[in-house]
Amino acid sequence: VGGDIDLKSEINRLRKEKNAIILAHYYQSGDIQDIADFVGDSLALAQWASKTDASIIVLCGVHFMGETAKILCPDKKVLVPDLNAGCSLADSCPADDFKKFVRNNPGYTVISYVNTSAAVKAVTDVVVTSTNARQIVESFPTEEKIIFGPDRNLGNYINSITGRNMKLWDGACHVHEEFSLEKILDLKKQYPDALILAHPECKKVILMLADKIGSTAALLKYATESSAKKFIVATESGILHEMKKSNPDKTFIPAPPNDSTCACNECNFMRLNTMKKLYLTLKYELPEIKVDKDIADRAVLPIKKMLDISS
Ligand code: 13P
Ligand code: SF4
Repeated sequence: VGGDIDLKSEINRLRKEKNAIILAHYYQSGDIQDIADFVGDSLALAQWASKTDASIIVLCGVHFMGETAKILCPDKKVLVPDLNAGCSLADSCPADDFKKFVRNNPGYTVISYVNTSAAVKAVTDVVVTSTNARQIVESFPTEEKIIFGPDRNLGNYINSITGRNMKLWDGACHVHEEFSLEKILDLKKQYPDALILAHPECKKVILMLADKIGSTAALLKYATESSAKKFIVATESGILHEMKKSNPDKTFIPAPPNDSTCACNECNFMRLNTMKKLYLTLKYELPEIKVDKDIADRAVLPIKKMLDISS
């Protein structure tokens, strides 16, 4: 099976035959987004996984997204097309080091971004995504002592808009750290009427320029509802697919990375998933996400707490 047409019809046949649902993140390639049953941000993917009655969930995203789905649905088969689809942000927070950090700060409530391993979630009080981080932080009294990990940019941003002083883990995403301030300013000069949209994982200097800061879903909603016609988008460039599809009359310009010789505004982990791998995953029901039961039993609590607060 090589051509697109075969792959599409085979994927459609297999998902029906096996009662499988395909969930895709906005950072997947356009063909995967188009064939998915549902496309969304990391919160929406967890919400969909938690309520589906499909027997198999194929999570077209990165490992922590598959893990979150598996923790929420321990009795279902959860597959990801490529198990090597990791996340540099999740990797910037090794569980053993994070556990030490938590142990060294007794009396702190632990809030972790969903971009973490199950083992980090297992020592967390409540999980957040960029969609609900502010709401969840603000659900705690102002005097609450909070550890926030692992993204320092999101943590600093939430501290700045809530007036909190959360203790931050020093992690970051390699895609969002790479956007070039100079090149975005050049684009703004070239297109003065363009609005700048930025994900809170970007560095502060980029966020200071932004007209709208938000999760992938929030940026998409803003672009769709805005009367502006041009947008410079500082997040992984996969989101442009849905932005253009929902807004054919508007122009979306991907914010460039510092290094113009690489496609560094694409997440190399997200892009490991392909249509061919999706087809093979459905066919062989591999690779499957497995989570140690002991860790899953603890990690499910802060994930469910997040879903309860966000519902
Ligand atoms: P969202 O929660 O905005 O979809 O972000 C996920 C992610 O991996 C950002 O890099
Ligand atoms: Fe992780 Fe960054 Fe890729 Fe998102 S874009 S999955 S945070 S490496």
